[in-house]
Amino acid sequence: MSHDDFPTENPAVVTCGLPYANGDLHIGHLRTYISGDAYARALEKLGQETAFVSGSDMHGTPVAVNAEKRGVSPEEFALEHHEKYAETFPRFNVEFDNYGHTHDETNTELTQSFVRSWVENDHVFEKEIQVAWDPEADTPLPDRYVEGTCPYCGAKARGDECDEGCQRHLEPGEIEDPVSTITGNPAEYRTREHKFLRLSDFQEYLKGFIDRLEGTSNARNQPKEWIEGELQDLCITRDMDWGIDYPGEGKEDLVLYVWVDAPIEYVSSTKQYTERVGADEYDWEEVWKAGAPEADAPEAADDETWDDADTGDIVHVIGRDIIQHHTVFWPSMLRGAGYNEPRAVMASGFVNLDGQAFSTSRNRAVWADDYLDEGLDPDLVRYYLTTTGGFQQDVDFSWEKFQERVNGELVGTLGNFAYRSLLFAARNYDGAPDADTSEEVASRIEDAVADFEEAVNDYSLKQAGDAAVALAGFGNEYIQRNEPWNLTGDDGESRSDSESPSGDEPRGPTRAEQVIYDCVQIAKAVAVLSAPILPGKAQTLWEQLGEEGSVHDANLDACLQSPPGEFGEPDELFDKIEDERVEQLNEKLQERIEAATDDSGEDATEESEDDTMSEDIQPVKEDRISFEDFQDLDIRVGEIEVAEPIEGADDLARLEVDIGTETRQIVAGIKQLHDLDALPGTKVVVVANLEQAELFGVESNGMVLAAGEEADLLTTHEDSVPGTKVR
Ligand code: MF3
Ligand code: ZN
Repeated sequence: MSHDDFPTENPAVVTCGLPYANGDLHIGHLRTYISGDAYARALEKLGQETAFVSGSDMHGTPVAVNAEKRGVSPEEFALEHHEKYAETFPRFNVEFDNYGHTHDETNTELTQSFVRSWVENDHVFEKEIQVAWDPEADTPLPDRYVEGTCPYCGAKARGDECDEGCQRHLEPGEIEDPVSTITGNPAEYRTREHKFLRLSDFQEYLKGFIDRLEGTSNARNQPKEWIEGELQDLCITRDMDWGIDYPGEGKEDLVLYVWVDAPIEYVSSTKQYTERVGADEYDWEEVWKAGAPEADAPEAADDETWDDADTGDIVHVIGRDIIQHHTVFWPSMLRGAGYNEPRAVMASGFVNLDGQAFSTSRNRAVWADDYLDEGLDPDLVRYYLTTTGGFQQDVDFSWEKFQERVNGELVGTLGNFAYRSLLFAARNYDGAPDADTSEEVASRIEDAVADFEEAVNDYSLKQAGDAAVALAGFGNEYIQRNEPWNLTGDDGESRSDSESPSGDEPRGPTRAEQVIYDCVQIAKAVAVLSAPILPGKAQTLWEQLGEEGSVHDANLDACLQSPPGEFGEPDELFDKIEDERVEQLNEKLQERIEAATDDSGEDATEESEDDTMSEDIQPVKEDRISFEDFQDLDIRVGEIEVAEPIEGADDLARLEVDIGTETRQIVAGIKQLHDLDALPGTKVVVVANLEQAELFGVESNGMVLAAGEEADLLTTHEDSVPGTKVR
């Protein structure tokens, strides 16, 4: 089935993945929240009734582990972070209609009612399983209390997620070579009884669901493999104190798995919104429940039922690491309790720093607070994060690129256009001259509006942002082409309808008036179209235009409604970011990263998720090299004989490598990434004719090839002897 285009008759809800209440927010986290906010605002621009909700994720081991490290109770720890988040989001113009948390009464009750429905509908069963156990601490090791190897891809993983590799969810007992994060001991196993949600009950349903699902292609495609394959049942309980109690007799020692109550907060948060504004204004049940097939009738959930269903439009905005939770577990949870299904999942890429992943543990990040402390306007980073590259792509944050986007499009195009047109209008006419929008300009604005609508229906924020900036670009071109400054002089005041018969009739506008009126109209449309991404700046522009109220209450129709006749001289909307500023910002960032690396090791609290994965995969260069150029490289097999650290150099190692004809001394940046003692005997690939260099006073005679930030050494597959040419 296909959904009706937005705006629909139904209310919509846009949600953002709940942040774990366990650490500081950085620009990487903000990407999802800014995008969710911009998307919700964009839907509203189309006239779609929309609620925008989220909340803090308070439970589970991500919170418990960090609270323990700090020596405070999980509740106190989580609440403190929750409050901080709730304060921080609005400072980035992220304005939730409701921002709750998973530990409150609404969510506790609703979560337990979901579980009761699953039990009633016979989707829950009990099973004995082996859970990881710390023998020394004599305690169970759920989720992040254990680390090991992912059974699917071999990457280092946490107890319940392959966070550095294939991103899969891992069930208790699945992780290989488990080690306790409490004592560092290898984990043992104990038999325990746990509750499971039988996901196989939903397999047929999910196959239909994934075909109906809209959003980004990663979220629609990645789950297909899981849904087609054998669905593993989901263990919904944990041996922990911190969490929501399993609602049933005899299970007092268990709490629900954090991934049960977390997404249910989407519903709870919407419900709280309704409780605040009243169901007449926004009815959560219409979105989440009305029209959904009954949960106890499996056959009622086929495609046609959903086709006819007059269900709400649920849009989830998440990071790409939690696609499985939102496209397999969550729709099953909803379906099992008789709730509506998501209409769309938008899964964004991560944010990297200068080509390397953000890392909370290494303090390699641009922190939300630092950004604000710099006095930088929140709309700048909103623009950068929502319009740099596609939504699914990882975005590289660098101050240089930030500067480039700000100075180019915001200062040079949008700001420049708005300022010059409004200034001209104010100086010459005290506002908008008396005229109507010309046909050319009206039709260009209509195109921009159509682009914007299409962008929203394609779930593309970049396209939506481009629609606004491109319209401002047209404005610049229009004003340049028509040179109104040459028209206001003595000879320029000719009327466009100068044949106007009698002197009593109101006369048409002069050409200059026409051009300037058009420009003011364009500026108004730019304010409306840019409002979702630049909420603060669009409002400023709106006020500069002499408009009343909030630009956020105006919908797309306002783009072609006439602007007020009077306004004064505007201020510039954006300030250029100077090179010196970028240098300072870079220096500060660098200092912090270095300071943090010095005392790293400790404090590797949450989110090693960012540490190794998702290096920016760059497109292949357009320019090809010739075969001759390639042949100029003398690449050969070598064997490491000696590997030792270079004193004082952070990551450099001195290697002696047998390259067949001789033994070479080579300096390589691999010290922190390899166990140097284990390297002798390892075959490597060496560029032998690279010019000599001196690094940290040590001469380097060649280059050892390695892949990526982790310096994954290239080696040979078979037994090529040292000196063998690589071709
Ligand atoms: N806290 C989780 C994370 O950061 C996301 C929870 S999203 C929800 O990975 F769906 F559970 F709400
Ligand atoms: Zn994996």
